[in-house]
Amino acid sequence: MKMPSLPSLLVAPSLLACDFAHLAEEIRKVEEAGADWLHVDVMDGHFVPNLTMGPVVVEAIRRVSRIPLDVHLMLDHPQQWLRPFLDVGVHYLTVHVEAPGLEQPAVLRNSLETIRKAKVGAGLSLRPKTDAESVRPFLDRVDLILVMSVEPGFGAQAFMPQVVPKVRMLRQWFSGHLAVDGGINAKTGEQMRKAGANVLVAGTYVFRSTSYRDAIQSLRAPSG
Ligand code: DX5
Ligand code: ZN
Repeated sequence: MKMPSLPSLLVAPSLLACDFAHLAEEIRKVEEAGADWLHVDVMDGHFVPNLTMGPVVVEAIRRVSRIPLDVHLMLDHPQQWLRPFLDVGVHYLTVHVEAPGLEQPAVLRNSLETIRKAKVGAGLSLRPKTDAESVRPFLDRVDLILVMSVEPGFGAQAFMPQVVPKVRMLRQWFSGHLAVDGGINAKTGEQMRKAGANVLVAGTYVFRSTSYRDAIQSLRAPSG
């Protein structure tokens, strides 16, 4: 069987695990180490039990970064927050399929359209226990699917191997960017690559390593 060509592998360090007291320097270091995208986690204390940053900080990140910003909105009613993030000039903007406010398919479709109209990549994310079927009706309207491999909210949690078959299934349906987020390291990253993921989001594994370059490289190369 001839496989359709897939997007190339991209490594997206998650800034959640960086040293926020030296944010600009961390961004520079991880870019020099070969990162493809910067993953930015926006949390509202409602959709997830943690708070991070809003558009003001994302705008500051945008000013000092040279690679695409991949912004992951973990918010209730994300449709009310699209404009401020789009105005910052992000490159990918992802909402959760389970987000309160997006229950009506028409509202979710509208949100994805608003993102695409701004010439920004539209992303849709799903929690580990959410079925792949939930995103299926929207696949022709998104540029990126973000599969959570931990419960969203915090870094440094253990990878949930139950999501591997879901990634495999989504890859059969979807030829755009298929990203995985949570507990990604060289070993789990390889599992996910084999299942069809092409964007590996990694926070702790990159930012708590002694060499950002080696950590990023190990996510690209087969281990062992
Ligand atoms: C969790 C965030 C992740 C987090 C991943 O809700 O969406 O992006 O930074 O962190 P690690 O790689 O440490 O699991
Ligand atoms: Zn994330």
